[in-house]
Amino acid sequence: KTLRIGLIPADGIGREVIPAARRALEALGSDLPKLEFHNLLAGFDLFTRTGTALPRETVEVLKNGCDAALFGAVSSPSRKVAGYSSPIVALRKELDLYANIRPVASVAPDPKGKPAVDLIVVRENTECLYVKQETLTQTESGKEARATRLITEYASRRIGKMAFELALARPRKQVTIIHKSNVLSVTDGLFRETVRAVPQLPEVAGRFDSVGIAEQIVDSAVYRLFREPEIYDVMVAPNLYGDILSDAAAALVGSLGLVPSVNAGDSFVMGEPVHGSAPDIEGKGIANPLAAIRSAALMLRHLRYEDAADRVDTAVNDVIREGHTLTRDLGGKSSTDEVVEAVLRRL
Ligand code: NAI
Ligand code: MG
Repeated sequence: KTLRIGLIPADGIGREVIPAARRALEALGSDLPKLEFHNLLAGFDLFTRTGTALPRETVEVLKNGCDAALFGAVSSPSRKVAGYSSPIVALRKELDLYANIRPVASVAPDPKGKPAVDLIVVRENTECLYVKQETLTQTESGKEARATRLITEYASRRIGKMAFELALARPRKQVTIIHKSNVLSVTDGLFRETVRAVPQLPEVAGRFDSVGIAEQIVDSAVYRLFREPEIYDVMVAPNLYGDILSDAAAALVGSLGLVPSVNAGDSFVMGEPVHGSAPDIEGKGIANPLAAIRSAALMLRHLRYEDAADRVDTAVNDVIREGHTLTRDLGGKSSTDEVVEAVLRRL
């Protein structure tokens, strides 16, 4: 048996951290089946060179020739570029990777005595404002821009089930629904009610009876996240709120360069560090590879290679705890390669 993994470094530091994640996977040896890597193209650089950001071949190889994948990061310009649309958003849709699962946990107790963070942001990955239906019209008083925000019962229910399932496997078993239904009572209202009703679904048959449900309006959720992050276990949110919350949560554990994610569907999983392409540090060899390495571990966990995933996580946590070999985002002086070597030694 072989495990076929698509590698899509894409742009910026994605090209530095995905090779690092590959080396960590290769170091696992007999804990995994034989590994087969497929290097695949996507990204804004590719678009500027070839006019396409996500070649059909990349999607085909992922769909028909891979068991899982690792994605780096894309550089998406903040202005509209004709013909360009983000390949990661497209890939999540193409492969129906409807859940973006982002665990944020502190490794060691905070030296200032703050309580440890140990939460998962479960972000709906296919709709909300990310359907990218925007229009611009000229009115008498100037331009007018509109965006469609799509929330469906179908997508809210399946992300809700995913959140409850994840909570069930954790000690605290608590789901917090993040919304803004005091203002957006139709869209966020539907999300909130649908997720709340998950434990009563006939097909769930009492499975989630031991899971507690809380809810929090998104703005005060950010506030409480900074003041008392220990209250959160599993936070489930529509796409945009989940995106913002997970970057915010990353600040609590020291760096975006530490926070992994997987894009998960019912039949495919794609690991992806939460950070972007970091153009400010690209090409300098100083990007923190640990988010990408942890994303590889999270991918393995979803493929049920729990022991291999544990080994990687332990190695990463030891490197962080020890504190001698850290990149600059964590206050160290080490290069990407030196951190990778430190992880590999522990593997
Ligand atoms: P970013 O996440 O790339 O960077 C934010 C800050 O964190 C920067 O100062 C960066 O140097 C630092 N940082 C991020 N990852 C790091 C790492 N591994 N090691 C050390 N420092 C790290 O977000 P930004 O700057 O807002 O966006 C840059 C580009 O990335 C944009 O074009 C954006 O569209 C894209 N982006 C792509 C994402 C994706 O591919 N899923 C997610 C977020 C942003
Ligand atoms: Mg983000």
